[in-house]
Amino acid sequence: MGTLNFLTGNPGKLEEATALLAPLGWKVQSFVVEGNVPEIVEPQTDNLTTVALAKVAQGVEILAAESRLSESLLVEDSGLFIDALPDFPGVYSAQILKSIGLEGILKLVGENRSAQFTTIAALWTGEVVEVFVGQCAGQISEEIQGQHGFGYDPIFIPNEGDGKRTFAEMTVEEKSACSHRGKALSTLADFLSQN
Ligand code: IMP
Repeated sequence: MGTLNFLTGNPGKLEEATALLAPLGWKVQSFVVEGNVPEIVEPQTDNLTTVALAKVAQGVEILAAESRLSESLLVEDSGLFIDALPDFPGVYSAQILKSIGLEGILKLVGENRSAQFTTIAALWTGEVVEVFVGQCAGQISEEIQGQHGFGYDPIFIPNEGDGKRTFAEMTVEEKSACSHRGKALSTLADFLSQN
């Protein structure tokens, strides 16, 4: 079984990656150095790919410093993009959620509730960096619904589901079957199986 070091401080992301990749024979583990997830500096940019590449570059530097350069390293950056609010919250999804919360987002969204999530996953294979993209179109719900997941999950209804339930009302497996992260990581799994 291969092992993927996932550089993330988000237990929800780790759980989703594990649920999707473990059945395919990949052990997903949190990338830690001396017991801690290393601090990564995110660049100020409006581009998710730039953020993911900056994160993986810093992670690879840490691997090199630890003499672990032949190991894998997975990073990802995700954002929610609301059609009626161009580029919002987008790459600033984490900061906006912290400042105005889900209720604040619901107040800002009007009649057009269409939105999409995008994930850019960047994988250091031990030799090169490969980038994988996943997108999920959906709608911002009228109200907060569901207890599962994290972040914006309680207000995002994917179009591919039954069109009624938010990600937070789905199991991890149901979410991964249609989510941005699930799609990016499925493409990554295809790549790994062929290489
Ligand atoms: P980041 O990829 O950790 O920078 O995520 C940016 C923001 O989007 C954070 O507030 C996350 O909680 C949120 N987010 C990322 N992925 C998801 C998801 O799959 N569902 C809901 N919120 C997410």
